[in-house]
This record gives sequence, C-alpha cells and structure tokens, in this order.
Amino acid sequence: MEFSTQTTASLHQIKTSALAVGVFADGILSPAAELIDRAANGAVRAVVKTEFRGRAGATLVLRSLQGVSAQRVILVGLGKREDYNARTHASAEQAFASACVAAQLTEGVSTLAANVIDDVSIRARTRAAAISAGAATYHYDATFGKPDRDAQPKLKKITQVVERTDTAQAQLGLREGGAIANGMTLTRTLGNLPGNICTPTYLADTARKLAREFKGSLKVEVLDQAKVEALGMGSFASVARGSAEPLRFIVLRYSGKAAKKSKTAAGPVVLVGKGITFDSGGISIKPAATMDEMKYDMCGAASVLGTFRALAELELPLDVVGLIAACENMPSGTANKPGDVVTSMSGQTIEILNTDAEGRLVLCDALTYAERFKPSAVIDIATLTGACVVALGSVNTGLFSKNDDLADALLTAGREAMDTAWRMPMDDAYQDQLKSNFADIANIGGPQAGAVTAACFLSRFAKAYPWAHLDIAGTAWKGGKDKGATGRPVPLLMQYLLDQAA
Ligand code: BES
Ligand code: MN
Ligand code: ZN
Repeated sequence: MEFSTQTTASLHQIKTSALAVGVFADGILSPAAELIDRAANGAVRAVVKTEFRGRAGATLVLRSLQGVSAQRVILVGLGKREDYNARTHASAEQAFASACVAAQLTEGVSTLAANVIDDVSIRARTRAAAISAGAATYHYDATFGKPDRDAQPKLKKITQVVERTDTAQAQLGLREGGAIANGMTLTRTLGNLPGNICTPTYLADTARKLAREFKGSLKVEVLDQAKVEALGMGSFASVARGSAEPLRFIVLRYSGKAAKKSKTAAGPVVLVGKGITFDSGGISIKPAATMDEMKYDMCGAASVLGTFRALAELELPLDVVGLIAACENMPSGTANKPGDVVTSMSGQTIEILNTDAEGRLVLCDALTYAERFKPSAVIDIATLTGACVVALGSVNTGLFSKNDDLADALLTAGREAMDTAWRMPMDDAYQDQLKSNFADIANIGGPQAGAVTAACFLSRFAKAYPWAHLDIAGTAWKGGKDKGATGRPVPLLMQYLLDQAA
C-alpha cells in the first residue's frame, strides 16, 4: 500500500477512483462533504436528505458527480456529531476503516483519497488512518491452492487529504502509520500460517530476512539446541525435547543511527516473545475441539518481529533487542512429563506439574538471557494463559508489572494507539501458589488467578531490570467465523517506542 497526502484546497479536482468524505447523522455535512456538495451543485445534500442518514460506519458510493473529478465519492457515516469523539482518534479511525472497506469492495477502485475526519492532532490522525487502512485491506492467501481473486486487495494507493498548513505533520503520521501497518501485516501473516509451515526454523528465517532487508540497522543471531543447552537453558530445552522440530533462540539487535552516536547511559529496551509454533499441551494434552488455534501460540514472537520491521522502517533513534524462544510443545517419548524437574538458566529448579504451562518454561530462560544487555526495560509478550482471556476477553491485553513507571508508559501507549492494555495485580501473596515440594518453584499455581500466577512465575526470573509482561492470549487473534491474527500488540509496542524516541 502506498500512502500520500494532498491538500484540501481543490478537493473536487483530485483525480482518484474514489474520494471519501464524512457525513454526520441527521444530515450534517463535514467540511469536506460541504466542499464537494458545493462543487456538485447540491448533489451530496440531496442524497443525504433522501437515502443516507450518516449512521456510524455506513457508506454510500456516488458515481460521476458533475463538477467533481473523482470517479466516485464515498459518503462515510460518522454518527451523531455529539457522539463523534473528537478528543481521541477512535471515531476517525473507524470512519477511515469504513471508507477503505467500501473502496476495497468496489470493483475498479485502486486509489482512495479520504478526508472523513477532523478535530484531532493531524499526526495522530494520519497515523491512525494509515494503521486502519493497512488493517482493513489485509488479506491472507498464503496457503490457498486457488486464491480468491475477488477477495484480493485492489486498493493500491491511499491519499489523506489535509489542510495545506498541516502537510509535514500529516506526512510524518502517515509514515509512522504505514510502518506500523506493515509490521502488523507481518505479525498477522506469521500468526495465520499453519504450524507445519511456520516452524521455529521459519521464524528464524523470517528474522534473517528482516536483517538482510534492513542491513544498516538490524542484526540477527540464531542459536540452535546445542548452543541453548550450553547456555544452561534447561527449561526452554526441555519443552523443545518433545518435538521433532528443532528449537531456535533468535536474538535481534536494532541500532538506530542517532542512538549509536549518543552515548546514553540507559541500556536497550528488550522485547521477549513467546514463540510456541504449536502448543498441543504436551503430555498434559489439550482437548481436540479448538486445538488448531494453538498455531497462534507464537503471536508474541510474531509481534516482536512485526515491531522490529516497523522500527527499522521508521529508523527510530533507539537501541532495541528482540529475543524469541521458539519451539513446539508436543507429546512424545522424549517430552516433559508431569512431575519432571528441570534446571533453568538462572539456576532455579522448576517442577513441571502441567506440561501445558510451557510458555513460562521457555520465557524464563529468555528473561535470564536478557540480563546480559543491561536493559533499561524488558517487556515480554506472550499468549500465556486462557485465564487472561477469561479475565479480560479480547478487548484488553493483560499488563503485569511491579514497576509503576513502565506500567504507566505502556498503558498510555496502548490508549494512544487504540491497542489497550489493562493492569492486573502482582501482589507477593500470589507467589505462595507456586510452592513446590520438590523444586524451587512449580510451573502452575492452581485454578485461582491463573494469569496472575503465570506472571508471578516469570517475575522470579526478571529481577535484574524493570520488567513488564503482556498476556495477549485474548487480543492477538480471534476465533470463530473471522478466525485470524489481529496484529496486536504491535501498535502498543510501537507507540511505546515512539514515545521513548521522542
Ligand atoms: N498457549 C496457552 C494459553 C492460551 C490458551 C492461549 C487459550 C490462547 C488461548 C498456554 O500455553 C496454556 O496452555 N496455558 C494453560 C496454563 C495452565 C495449564 C496453568 C492454560 O491457560 O490453560
Ligand atoms: Mn500450553
Ligand atoms: Zn502455550
């Protein structure tokens, strides 16, 4: 997708296959719609009177309006003016997504010029618009023998129409949003790919490809089983041992230009991703019904890769490290058994009471490995617990941290990016549930507060730096008819990094 900006000065003379303008409920035209109405001799107002009420998300395509160069004008409903939330860009993003979907579904539309929204900071607005355009036009066809040509994206170019004075800020927002959209696309496709294709090796190859594409700023190192065992990552290695697919530990290093020069005292931000490319549960095997969905258990890893893609494309002046612990969780004669005790890289021993609580077993060693970077912050991202889905559904990512500054920064970033998180408790009292009679710690904490005890487990390995954990089990993908990866929490992570760079 190509993004550009253009000024409103002569909206009616823009040559495009479609031009989107907003209409509020009760027939109140947005300034852009007003402009087009005047150029087209009242044609918009006439339609709004009779057949378009401006309901939020509704669209109507008008063709060949006299006096307007665009081949089509798409009216986009913005809902009631008083409900239209001008302080955030949520309404704006929704409106833009509606315009994209309408344009996307209209045969012959390859370029869309849109001015459907107003009243918010232009940079945030264009950023949100580009993100929503990328999301609305995403299409997966990697594993179809015969791709559905009708469903393929036809939109090639989106122009955001802005006031003349705003162009520089608008372009900045578009560039940021475009990079975030590209990152989300990568994250979604990796999540959607099946477990037999998106293996640990495939994730490593994807990281290597990224490093080749962004040679100047991105480096990657891939550790195999022998290296992982030599490091003493006995917990991570034990999960991989049940599978025929070899594990991969992926280390990404992004170094932005300005960051190289400034000898900042603070260490890098480290992003740690859970990369279970398929989670059968292992010997504590999962029920069959929706087991296919456990191909999404690498969405933490995918969001790290998506974030690095966006980071590198935007050339942010930061140092960021990405760590991905990738393997399968399978039952076999060599798999972990309930009751097994393994030794983590930190030296702490772990009693595995349930082999399905494998995410924390791979993450704990990655968290210990992170210490060597003397990080200013470590954020792990994982589809860690079904309990988090029960607690927060698919609306909010679960945020766990004992560090108020880091937690606040992530909550704020999530709100700004409309990719929200909700802070969960981490009181020491929950740690008691992880007591084991046979090891330093058990890998499950019983039926109560499952998302919290999982976070408490990780906290034992993250004492050397400010740390936060994002449980994305409910937000990284959706089930049902529209099953698929969402690309979350790439917007949250990128907003956090943009805020760090500012
Ligand atoms: N990958 C799952 C968590 C998950 C469940 C993600 C549903 C997305 C949707 C994780 O490895 C897991 O199996 N967790 C167990 C932990 C339990 C055994 C303590 C769970 O949530 O049931
Ligand atoms: Mn599991
Ligand atoms: Zn899992």
